Amino acid sequence: MVKDLSVNLCGITLDNPVIPASGTFGYGYEFAKFYDINMLGTFSFKGTTLSERFGNDTPRIAECALGMLNSVGLQNPGVYKVIAEELPELKKVFRKKVMANVSGFSIEEYVKVCELLDKVDEIGWLEVNISCPNVHGGGLSFGTSAISAAQVAGAVKKAVKKPVILKLSPNVSDITEIAKAVEDAGADGISLINTLVGMRIDLKTRKPVLNNITGGLSGPAVFPVALNMVYKASKAVKIPVVGMGGVSSAEDVLEMILAGATAVEVGAANLINPFACKEIIENLPAAMDKYGIKTLDEIRGKA
Ligand code: FUM
Repeated sequence: MVKDLSVNLCGITLDNPVIPASGTFGYGYEFAKFYDINMLGTFSFKGTTLSERFGNDTPRIAECALGMLNSVGLQNPGVYKVIAEELPELKKVFRKKVMANVSGFSIEEYVKVCELLDKVDEIGWLEVNISCPNVHGGGLSFGTSAISAAQVAGAVKKAVKKPVILKLSPNVSDITEIAKAVEDAGADGISLINTLVGMRIDLKTRKPVLNNITGGLSGPAVFPVALNMVYKASKAVKIPVVGMGGVSSAEDVLEMILAGATAVEVGAANLINPFACKEIIENLPAAMDKYGIKTLDEIRGKA
């Protein structure tokens, strides 16, 4: 029997809960060369700032056991080019609403970029990234304080009509405090976790591998940390939670939903296997059958 995998994320129905995470799926059309990306729930496009950014100097990737460090530094063409060039390319191959991932270095920048993207029909949600660990004076500096996280959420909410999802950092002592602060400020949802700050040292040069010294750890190594934070955050708030962090199988998706996630983003797995999300979606019904799960709704938050 065909299973109903649909979930409702902030008022928009997704055919299934699987969402490629920002920064691992470009602006989508790149992956349409591999498979029909309309089978996805949706995807979150590359973190977009007001102006074009070249990103950090290389090396900005380091491999680790069961994961990787990145210090990309929010490389992107800037919001005007995203609207004028990237989204028209996406529209040729994607019929669903896309999630816009927005980064910034000031509250004014978050608001301006969100206002511009709010006017784009193809965009369903604004995922506001207050958790990038690889830039100075932006991203994470907003996401580690409940006060500044709430200020970003409140300012963006006042300026836009589309649902606003705040992307939270695991690099905090109490995730529930930040989650509740953005909910109180009006956020429609939260997504977590972004990457964990880490570093590697090259034994030959005796210097950090990454030019930026530190980077964000992602991949299967972070999955248990992510699951715990999704579990805690979803018990602390009433708004939908999008779980992510090291998800690489249909079973991981089910664990995230049991922890309380409404939908699930898949990140580093796309960089290893461009078909990762396709395979996860195809494997979900069998994984549900294996564990006696009839619908995703019946298990959500039941761990
Ligand atoms: O460095 C980066 O572009 C990563 C962004 C993020 O983790 O949010």
